[in-house]
Amino acid sequence: MPERTHYSFHLNASNYHELYAQSVADSSVFWAEQAAMLGWHTPFHTVKNTSFAPDDVHIKWFEGGALNVAENCVDRHAAATSDKIAIIWEADDPETPSQSITYLQLQQRVNRAATMLKNLGVVAGDRVTIYMPMIPEAAIAMLACARIGAVHSVVFGGFSPASLRQRIDDCDSRMVITADEGLRGGKHIALKANVDEACKGSAVEKVIVVKHTGGAVNWNDGRDVWWHEFEHCHPALVAESPSSSARLSPLSRGQAYEDGVTENEALDYFDSEHPLFILYTSGSTGTPKGLLHTSAGYLLYAMHTFLNVFDYRQSDVFWCTADVGWITGHSYMVYGPLAAGATLLMFEGVPTYPDASRFWQVVDKHKVTIFYTAPTALRMLLREGDAWLATTSRKSLRVLGSVGEPINPEAWRWYHDEVGRGACSIVDTWWQTETGGHLITPLPSTPHKKAGAAMNPYVGVRPAIVGGDGAAIDGVAEGALCIADSWPGQARTIWNDHARFVETYFKPYPNYYFSGDAARRDADGHYWIEGRMDDVVNVSGHRLGTAEIESALVEHVLVTEAAVVGFPHEIKGQGIYAFVTLLPGAVLDDVIRKELNALVRKIIGAVAHVDVMQDAPALPKTRSGKIMRRILRKIAGGEIQSKADYEKLGDISTLLNPESVDALVAGWIH
Ligand code: PRX
Repeated sequence: MPERTHYSFHLNASNYHELYAQSVADSSVFWAEQAAMLGWHTPFHTVKNTSFAPDDVHIKWFEGGALNVAENCVDRHAAATSDKIAIIWEADDPETPSQSITYLQLQQRVNRAATMLKNLGVVAGDRVTIYMPMIPEAAIAMLACARIGAVHSVVFGGFSPASLRQRIDDCDSRMVITADEGLRGGKHIALKANVDEACKGSAVEKVIVVKHTGGAVNWNDGRDVWWHEFEHCHPALVAESPSSSARLSPLSRGQAYEDGVTENEALDYFDSEHPLFILYTSGSTGTPKGLLHTSAGYLLYAMHTFLNVFDYRQSDVFWCTADVGWITGHSYMVYGPLAAGATLLMFEGVPTYPDASRFWQVVDKHKVTIFYTAPTALRMLLREGDAWLATTSRKSLRVLGSVGEPINPEAWRWYHDEVGRGACSIVDTWWQTETGGHLITPLPSTPHKKAGAAMNPYVGVRPAIVGGDGAAIDGVAEGALCIADSWPGQARTIWNDHARFVETYFKPYPNYYFSGDAARRDADGHYWIEGRMDDVVNVSGHRLGTAEIESALVEHVLVTEAAVVGFPHEIKGQGIYAFVTLLPGAVLDDVIRKELNALVRKIIGAVAHVDVMQDAPALPKTRSGKIMRRILRKIAGGEIQSKADYEKLGDISTLLNPESVDALVAGWIH
């Protein structure tokens, strides 16, 4: 058996109930003890100072304490296990050699990148936008920000220049870190060109560009700098001439730093509640929300859940397939595993390139022991057939994780029986951008796991199923999934908009955090996630607001109104279905459909592709003019195919235009 971790706390099925009871009996005592897994510069004096009361929402953990997040993720391991591999990088193209970065090398690279940021004028508290492919520099850039107390805002590379711009402006970011291009499934993604477009007329002063593919880029002399030139420049040289081009021979990416020299500037320590990052996520209405996560509590929670939910052991090779642009890529591709001193695998590509065996080839190549992915990838691979599994052994795998969307029983069984050869545990982890880490999940040793159940709350987490009257329901229940008390990884606010934070999460069910999901609790006390209660769709594990897609569609000159809902999709979990009302005389033909999708791609990005567009002569509305999305969801999902099905719609006679429903049912596209 591989050795255990050196952290004494080890949650498993046999001690879970006892430890859970202790953790919620007094969460301050519990988390104060657990906080010893972090390296502190100054001890905290108050463990927990939180309130969910709608008129006074505040969330503070470990006040008085100070630490450096990057030191916790990098330096302390560079000192203790300097030769241990921190990051294994596997390229999009299997012919490209993989790279390994030890903790010592990571320390050197993070330090140099931090110095680069400082020399370019970044100071603690500044926001830095990161728009990167899945390359080590993405993690290095995040850690470099953390090291100097800058607040990173990572934007997924699949978002359009307009979406990127919106996120740059919202947090008033003056610096963007990007790469010339990304590579996914052999396709080049013009990241730098997107940044150029996004930055036109913005307040961005510096753009740092990683040379990744070597593809051509336009250059803005006063603004753009190559990462490799600045990362290796001595501060004095940089200070002499900030616009200098390469005077020091740059090291190629991944090359070892033989000199062992780290430009170790004095490390600054930051308050436990110092902002660590902003991550934008979609809600039911309005623009994306910049959720703010802070330092100590977030890091502790990411590390703690990483260690326990994946049953981490020191010799593990952990692979999380999420992109760094999402919360999973933050908590379980960077902060959790690195704080634990683990070896993580970062993969640039896609599951089906060059063929559908790629994931499993990579597992075998690097002897991956813990694998964490989204059901959408599993469904895609399942459809390709088991022949792609046959060429690989996957013997190294021990724990399999699922995240981002409900996992259907068929995918769960395939994951368990075929991918894991019946020999691995599956952990189906429920959590959100807002929660920072897993909230409800089985443990690898949990017996009788039910396919598709999120099972049990994590230690310190108090879920509640709340009914329409705002009261928690005990026992077997179904309703709004809320959390009754704070946990250290919780988002603290929405950047620059605390009122919206309160409104969204704490007003709907007073004194509870409202997740936006519905759930049920079965007779064994296990939780089952049922999906979003709001107008958010979850497409391939990516969270998108229907309102944003609607606003993009109505930008088209021929569109007068649009309503977007999710519908069950075999591969993506949910697909996007748009009901579109055009100007009189216009016809929703293939040309307009293409134009509309091009518009959505331009305004939001390729992630928001509309799968089905139906011509809607009129949309069903209430007398106050509100579009009845509940009805549209049922029609899009194929639940209403004839008059006999109308009873599932409830009373539609009170609608402003009940007759509109007939036309939509008749025009349903499947
Ligand atoms: O609806 C839930 C779904 O994804 C939402 C959160 O999305 P996001 O903030 O983008 O974070 C995704 C990665 C944590 C939730 O409100 N969701 C997430 N995990 C699961 C899930 N639904 C069912 N089962 C899960 N394991």
